[in-house]
Order: sequence, then structure tokens, then C-alpha cells
Amino acid sequence: STMSAAEPIFSQGEDCKPGWTEADAQYNEADTHLAILGKPVMERWETPYMHELATAAASRGGRVLEIGFGMAIAATKIESFPIKEHWIIECNDGVFQRLQNWAKEQPHKVFCMTRIHCLKKPGTLTSLISSRLLKPGGVLTYCNLTSWGELLKTKYDNIEKMFQETQVPHLIQAGFKKEKITTTLLDIIPPEECKYYAFCKMITPTIVKD
Ligand SMILES: C[S@@+](CC[C@H](N)C(=O)[O-])C[C@H]1O[C@@H](n2cnc3c(N)ncnc32)[C@H](O)[C@@H]1O
Repeated sequence: STMSAAEPIFSQGEDCKPGWTEADAQYNEADTHLAILGKPVMERWETPYMHELATAAASRGGRVLEIGFGMAIAATKIESFPIKEHWIIECNDGVFQRLQNWAKEQPHKVFCMTRIHCLKKPGTLTSLISSRLLKPGGVLTYCNLTSWGELLKTKYDNIEKMFQETQVPHLIQAGFKKEKITTTLLDIIPPEECKYYAFCKMITPTIVKD
């Protein structure tokens, strides 16, 4: 690629949604990198972080909803816990095919979907999860490493401050209580070639529904 590490992955207002479903899922031969529409989507060095997110998501057992299958790293970790059901939504056709093959071999019942079929009202995903999908006591965790990586290159040198200022207001807007939002940090050394993340820490949110 001719893109320099200093340029953002997505330009201002760029919308990849229209072509994303049908675009080729480009897993490299070593199966360490996934790209879609020329964008870096998932890289295997994130494994320790994906395992933290998976551990948080599966910490209450029960029925786990996972959005975005990527390279199955978080999904495989989730399957290692005593959960009841594992629901996975993946909107890219090629990744979805991988998901269906993977699902056959798992110890727990896996339900594969390309979208949230029960969605009747428009709204943000977090507010949907908060108000309609999560049980009281249920836990939400998530990341958006491309956005967070960009914020940590340009606006923040403190990851907890970044999370407090750019994430917590949206979570509160979505109906979660401030005192139910906690975070833990993970030390990590991203590879120099990584285009979307260069910070030395990652943050795992645990958001419990009241
Ligand atoms: C960063 S990867 C997920 C990595 C995964 N957690 C792992 O451990 O390998 C993001 C995935 O989410 C999918 N995705 C993005 N937007 C989505 C949406 N709105 N609905 C469903 N899947 C989506 C992408 O196609 C991609 O496979």
C-alpha cells in the first residue's frame, strides 16, 4: 500500500457500508491479517486483547451475543467458557462463510446471523443492546481499535481519559449508569507495521446493565 502510517484509515465521512457485505474477505496466507475493501480489519497480534474482551463478555455465562467474527479469536475464547448459547452476527459474506464452518466444530450451540433480524426500530447499536437485548446484570464489552488508535495518535496520550471523554457520554446516552462502567488496561506492543493502532496500552470496558 502507498498509505503512510500517519494517514487515517478512513477519510472524513468515508462510508464503506454499501460494498462491505459483498467485498472479498482477504485473509493472508499465514492467516495473521484480514483486510476488507483495502482496510486492515483484524490482525493476530491483538490476540491477548481479544481474549480479555471475550473473558469479560463470557463472565456471566448464559447467552452471549458477539458482533463481528473477523478471525474467530474472541469467538474461540468465548467458546472455552461455560456459556449456554453463542450468537454471532457477521455482515461480510466471506467472513460469514468462515463463521459457518467454524460453528460446526464448537462445544456450544452457535447461532450465525448476518444482521440483527429482530431489529424493528432504528437506533444505535449500543442503545439497542442496552435497552432491548441485555438482561439486568448482563455485561457489554466492545472495542473500536481503529477509532481509538486514531484518537491516541492525535488527541490523547492517556487511554483512560480518551475512554472517559469519548466513550462514556455515549454509553450514558444509551442508558447505562456511569457507576456500572469500569475499565481495565492491558500493556501491549503493537507491531510497527500496524496502521490502525500504535499505543502501548489497550482498554477493556465492562459495562453492566442495571
Ligand atoms: C475487528 S473484526 C472482529 C475481530 C474478532 N473479534 C476476532 O477476535 O477475530 C470486525 C468484524 O466485524 C464485521 N462487521 C463490521 N461491521 C459489522 C456490522 N455492522 N454487523 C456485523 N458485522 C460487522 C467485519 O466484517 C469484521 O469481520
